[in-house]
Amino acid sequence: MSRNIKASLTIAALGIAALLTLLVLELGQRGAPDSAAETRLTAAIGGPFTLTDQNGARKTDQDFAGRPMLIYFGFTYCPDVCPTALDILGGALEILRDSAPDAYQALQPVFISVDPTRDTPPVMRDYLAYFHPRLIGLTGTQAEIDAVKRVYKIYAARRPQEDENGNYNVDHSSFFYLMDGDNRYLAHFDHAVTPKTLAQGLAQKLAQN
Ligand code: NI
Repeated sequence: MSRNIKASLTIAALGIAALLTLLVLELGQRGAPDSAAETRLTAAIGGPFTLTDQNGARKTDQDFAGRPMLIYFGFTYCPDVCPTALDILGGALEILRDSAPDAYQALQPVFISVDPTRDTPPVMRDYLAYFHPRLIGLTGTQAEIDAVKRVYKIYAARRPQEDENGNYNVDHSSFFYLMDGDNRYLAHFDHAVTPKTLAQGLAQKLAQN
């Protein structure tokens, strides 16, 4: 198998595993309408973080209090999955701007790096400019990134192999997480969603919230 196919399969397998976890959590929530089950789900994804944005400013989850966030974890050197997902995100934001302007204004799209060694703030700034002007990029020390990955239940692992230029790949789970204004889990969307479906899902979830 080529490296790309292997990478795609690995990412697909990781995605399925993470989706199953979310599904079990969601089914648990549906099957038991008590608030304890809801607390389990909302407590499972998301939590406090302290990171650095693409302009070098320190940001915590509290800086986004009161605003729903759409969060995607990835890395700027990603050859295919991340740029595709961010294209979809940018397209969805443009649709949302016209179809649900209040939701668009409220929503803060956030890209969090799983590769802080290479994703410095200037690298993040240049990269995110390709996708959408509203996107905030967050990076940090390896310890800060490990902590935020833990609270959002993100899998990411650097591959040992490097090419002749010292470039390496990072396998990572690939979802859009929608968090409410209190940084509690509202919904997730697969990275293979269409911009239109993502925009509709966001509008619907934000209208209910
Ligand atoms: Ni990626």
